[in-house]
Amino acid sequence: MQAAKHEHWSSSFTFFLAAVGSAVGLGNIWRFPYVVAENGGGAFVLIYLAIVIVFGIPLLMSELMIGRSTQKPPLSAIQSFGQTSGTSSAQKLWHALGWSYLLVPMGILTFYSVVAGWTLDYALGMGIGTFNDLKEGESAEMFQDLLRSPVKLIFWMTLSIGITVAIVARGLKSGLEKTVKILMPALFVILIILVLYASITGDFARSFAFMFEPDFSKITPKLVLMAAGQAFFSLSLGSGAIMVYGSYLTRDISIPKMAVGVAFADTAVALLAGFAIFPIVFAFGVDHAAGPGLVFVTLPIVFNDMGGIGQVFGVLFFLLLAFAAITSTISLLEPMVAQLSESGRIKRARVAIYCGAVLWSVGIFVALSNNILRDVHPLGFLPLFEGKTIEGVIEFLAANVFMLLNGMLVSIFVGWSIKRTITLEEMGLGDSILFKLWFMLVRFVVPLGVGFIFYDVVL
Ligand code: PFF
Repeated sequence: MQAAKHEHWSSSFTFFLAAVGSAVGLGNIWRFPYVVAENGGGAFVLIYLAIVIVFGIPLLMSELMIGRSTQKPPLSAIQSFGQTSGTSSAQKLWHALGWSYLLVPMGILTFYSVVAGWTLDYALGMGIGTFNDLKEGESAEMFQDLLRSPVKLIFWMTLSIGITVAIVARGLKSGLEKTVKILMPALFVILIILVLYASITGDFARSFAFMFEPDFSKITPKLVLMAAGQAFFSLSLGSGAIMVYGSYLTRDISIPKMAVGVAFADTAVALLAGFAIFPIVFAFGVDHAAGPGLVFVTLPIVFNDMGGIGQVFGVLFFLLLAFAAITSTISLLEPMVAQLSESGRIKRARVAIYCGAVLWSVGIFVALSNNILRDVHPLGFLPLFEGKTIEGVIEFLAANVFMLLNGMLVSIFVGWSIKRTITLEEMGLGDSILFKLWFMLVRFVVPLGVGFIFYDVVL
């Protein structure tokens, strides 16, 4: 049997929808608002925006370029450059980097699909009225009930992995493209409805000030680290999704334009999510710094207080989260599935199912680390991992260590290992100031900057 055919996006717009779909996810709607709230509002937003521009856009361009130039999934893509340049120890490093670009998204998926499962549970719960007539303290209790229930967590995780596998198994055009064409417009409409509602009924002015009036005294090294981690996660960097989506691009599409567009859209959605959530949270006087429970604990109280219409908004909100999650999970599974089906002899659908089975098996432990396995701390003997559950360890390693490390190495790879003539041609900017600026950022600023952040987080 022949290896699978390499498909291409139907248009630059479908690529754009898919890449924005990957970037926009739980990171924007669930994580961004609470991280902003916990880290001092405007000051965090300001640093976040700076990091998106200085690190995010150059790295998006680099990853898209590696994919597009080789037309191969991450491991083969990095290898095919690696073979033509560098010493053998450098080649080993690039080989490892290729693997890391396949394994990191799988690692992220193990916990991302558990959280995606929560959103499905909440969308259903809102729909059938489980959250109606909430009494004081009940909302937090209900969230804990979900976390304490192995059956529920495993059921919803299985469903979210199942949906992801079913879409990815169908391939680029009939699976991924079709899904993003439906879900992304729906997501956009729901988000706009929620922002309009929040700005009419909620405390919009206070939210605006909270998000955009920086208190410079709050800028600390830790805040910068948090902002960088959030930006990498939100832009799907260092994790194969952008690279593999880039491999389905044709040569006529401008990489710099696409990278800027994706970064802009992802940031806009994160800010809009803030404007959907903070105005109502402020207006209802609930704690805006409630941490990860912000949307799961706080919002049901708010929706409940709104009366009948609140239930409708509740369903819409959690559907929004679920849609955003699915367009991200498919991009997390795609790198490994593309790699195995394009270079091996096994059909895509079968590869997708095998990968789903592996994810599911690891996902069980992640789900159970919220309850039965709560006291298991796998790397607890190392100070950095003290007190971290299985989920905590995987999340920390994938999102905070390897995403940053991958980003740093890939910028070195693009800036120092790939021939400048190739990057010059791929970017399509000529030998202009813009190209030189990008090249300088990728060669020096990104590796040193990310290296510094990495050093601070991990060492
Ligand atoms: N960008 C996604 C979010 O903000 O939720 C998460 C993510 C998707 C990270 C795909 C990495 C990735 F490859």
